[in-house]
Amino acid sequence: MATLFKDVLMTDGSRDKARRVHMLVSKGRIAEIIDADKTPPTADKIISGHGKMAVIPGFVNAHTHAAMTLLRGLGEEAPLMEWLENKIWPVEAKLTPEYIYWGTLSAMLEMLATGTTCFADMYFEMERVAEAALGAGMRAALCRGITAGEPGKIGRSLQNNLELAEKFHGREGLITVQLGPHAPYTVPLDSMKIISESAKSHGLGVHFHFMETEGEKSNLGMSDAEYLKESGLLEAPYVVLAHAVWLDPNIDLPENFTLVHNPSSNLKLGSGVMPLASWLDKDTSVALGTDGASSNNRLDIWEEMRLAALLHKGVNKDPLCVSAVEALRMATYEGAKAFGFSQKGMLNEGWVADLVLVNLDRPHYIGVNEENLAQYLVYAGSSADIEGTMINGKWLYKNGEYPTLDKEEILQKTREAARAIRS
Ligand code: NI
Repeated sequence: MATLFKDVLMTDGSRDKARRVHMLVSKGRIAEIIDADKTPPTADKIISGHGKMAVIPGFVNAHTHAAMTLLRGLGEEAPLMEWLENKIWPVEAKLTPEYIYWGTLSAMLEMLATGTTCFADMYFEMERVAEAALGAGMRAALCRGITAGEPGKIGRSLQNNLELAEKFHGREGLITVQLGPHAPYTVPLDSMKIISESAKSHGLGVHFHFMETEGEKSNLGMSDAEYLKESGLLEAPYVVLAHAVWLDPNIDLPENFTLVHNPSSNLKLGSGVMPLASWLDKDTSVALGTDGASSNNRLDIWEEMRLAALLHKGVNKDPLCVSAVEALRMATYEGAKAFGFSQKGMLNEGWVADLVLVNLDRPHYIGVNEENLAQYLVYAGSSADIEGTMINGKWLYKNGEYPTLDKEEILQKTREAARAIRS
């Protein structure tokens, strides 16, 4: 089935100016983009924008722990280690595969309604997470959070992660799998070396929490540059470093490295502010993430995009720092690229139709045009303006409904699971 977006504004993170166009989506891809003053192509389904709708690429939540929706509200207002050790880990021990399945679906409801078409998830019972994503038709980059208490012993979690890759990597074009060592403070260096070697031999990327807090940096026992070398991470096919708040921006990271900026989570846990401007000056790839719902507490990438664009202007006392277009690019293309999804995150003919439809017929968009659409979206807009979220040319969220998910059942099961683990 072909869908025509007739007379809409479109933009993405590669354009200084938006275009007013007709956009045809067919067979899961953007088949045609032509100027709005031309005769529109025919289609089974037509969405008439009258110049008051915008189409942008779907957001990529490049770092989250989806099923932590079950833990939202626990251990509020505590520093990272205290929060993890006293509040989160004891409750996580009660999670079952079933609870994680429903908690993930609940996260997907939130993410789809706020324009996310792809999420990068690090957690446990990831087969159930893969099933949740595949069942709904949502894109996901998945890894098992690997922890290894004793040096040299990785236990079952690496094996479990490799089995996940074996079974799901590349499935239906929706899933990629990475190896997911949790963090330097939960995975000793010996084990990290084994994981890096395994990533290399299996051709898998690595998704890793790194330099989230100042204490983590001082406990590393070496410089962060030395750690990246010693751990073997520089040898992995590609690496995604979540947080990097305290990572030394003087390091030259290889091109196959992406940092994930999680501004809300870092602010809420009092971890600090990543030196984003320095990384962008060096053309380092940076994507955006929400982190889990118990440290943010929203799963709304639009909000992270706005916060990233504002925060660094203030920190650097520079209104030119992190432009709206840069923020949009971080929220879309950079995340897709980081996790091995090609031809996604921008609006080009032939690229995959992972899209968000935005209603501009609202008071805060008065004055919007091709010149300023990105700025209106980032500074004035919010995810409340989203009419629809499309993945592979199919609506997964449209006018408040979820065509591929049973919202009521998900809410009910998630409520039950959240109650069970807190009792
Ligand atoms: Ni995290």
